[in-house]
Amino acid sequence: MNNTHYSKHIDSLRKIHEAALETVEAEGILLHSGSDTLYFADDRSIEFSAYGHYLRWIPINKPDQFLLFIPGETPRYFQVVPTDYWYDQVVENEAPLEKDLSVIRTKVVSDIKIHIKNLKLCYLGPCPDVATSLDISTHNINPQKVISYLDFQRAYKTQYEIDQVRNANKLALIGHRAAKECFLANGNEYDIHMAYLRACNILESECPYTNIVALGEKSAILHYQKKRKGDAEKDKVLLIDAGCRVNGYASDITRTVVKENVNSIFEDILIGVEDIERSLVTLVKPGVKYPELHSQALAKISELLLELSICSGSVDDLLEMEISNLFMPHGVGHLLGIQVHDVGGHQRDVKGAVESPPASSPYLRNTRIIAKDMIFTIEPGCYFIPILLEPQRDTTRGEVINWKVVEQLYPCGGVRIEDNILVTDEGSENLTRQFEAINQ
Ligand code: GLY
Ligand code: MN
Ligand code: MN
Repeated sequence: MNNTHYSKHIDSLRKIHEAALETVEAEGILLHSGSDTLYFADDRSIEFSAYGHYLRWIPINKPDQFLLFIPGETPRYFQVVPTDYWYDQVVENEAPLEKDLSVIRTKVVSDIKIHIKNLKLCYLGPCPDVATSLDISTHNINPQKVISYLDFQRAYKTQYEIDQVRNANKLALIGHRAAKECFLANGNEYDIHMAYLRACNILESECPYTNIVALGEKSAILHYQKKRKGDAEKDKVLLIDAGCRVNGYASDITRTVVKENVNSIFEDILIGVEDIERSLVTLVKPGVKYPELHSQALAKISELLLELSICSGSVDDLLEMEISNLFMPHGVGHLLGIQVHDVGGHQRDVKGAVESPPASSPYLRNTRIIAKDMIFTIEPGCYFIPILLEPQRDTTRGEVINWKVVEQLYPCGGVRIEDNILVTDEGSENLTRQFEAINQ
């Protein structure tokens, strides 16, 4: 971890939180990582994942950690470490924090009370009961004005945050390389998933989202979650969407790989989507509206469908009938950071005004105006999804679809190519491709 970048990051957070605080009547903000929660009627814990606005300050994914911000004071990190012989409570990764934060170690949450008594605070976090137990007034628990302010600002990354996402890309690409090799050696979904984790040297619980490791027709299930263990020799297509986390920050990368004997139209689709992805990245620059990239993606997918005779007519026809939405039914990308689908994607301003996605693309998760230091994904795809396509057979839309080709392509599933993009002064930097040459 670069200490200078972390110090500057903390300075930036102090400014943002000071401005956020002006929207409410409070003297400070208490951010809570969250508390341990159990499965219903069980004594097992649900895998813990700390609240994003806390994690932005403290890269320690642990329950009941608190950050107290008061303008003009050194931020205080209340590190609650219970006396416990059931679980390992050792806190790792804390050394660099001491320079910028004052770290106060306690054994129980209620110990914090003494440090915050007589202060009028606002609480941000997932546990209102904890806030109440710390005597925080109900109207200052998760006030929407503060959350909207912080959510909006989270889209703009500091150099420290850029470093983390970059490193999360570097690590994930080691896994992607191993996954590709495993697939080409006829590994099944389970084998490929395990090869990815092993190459990255991570546990499944350390992934920023459930790895999508889909062979053949399963690659048309957008968030396919299973890992089949059967014989995979006959499978010719792998879609792997997998990232890593570094100090809480995610990468989110998709690659589609085919074996030599794959259907030749599908191979052309893969080449086409690769080209589309690269050309979309060249359109990224400050001032462009992100939904414009989505519209461009749909237009380019339409061109590809026509070029490969999967559809007939003109690009305008296909767009007007929303045909390309059937083949790419997701948004072309989303903000990326602490959460893989980071917050604030539909916000127009710090006050929380909403910019909704177009009605024809309800799953577009980013409607922001592109600005320097944003990080988002660009992830066009083209899929053959029976439950979307089949109902169109006897409709006007169905008339422009070449069903013979579509039927041939169902067993191949689909293609998605996804990179992580940092917006610079005049354009963008591809945080994913810059490491790929090393790994190929
Ligand atoms: N990995 C989920 C997504 O690409 O949005
Ligand atoms: Mn994504
Ligand atoms: Mn993804």
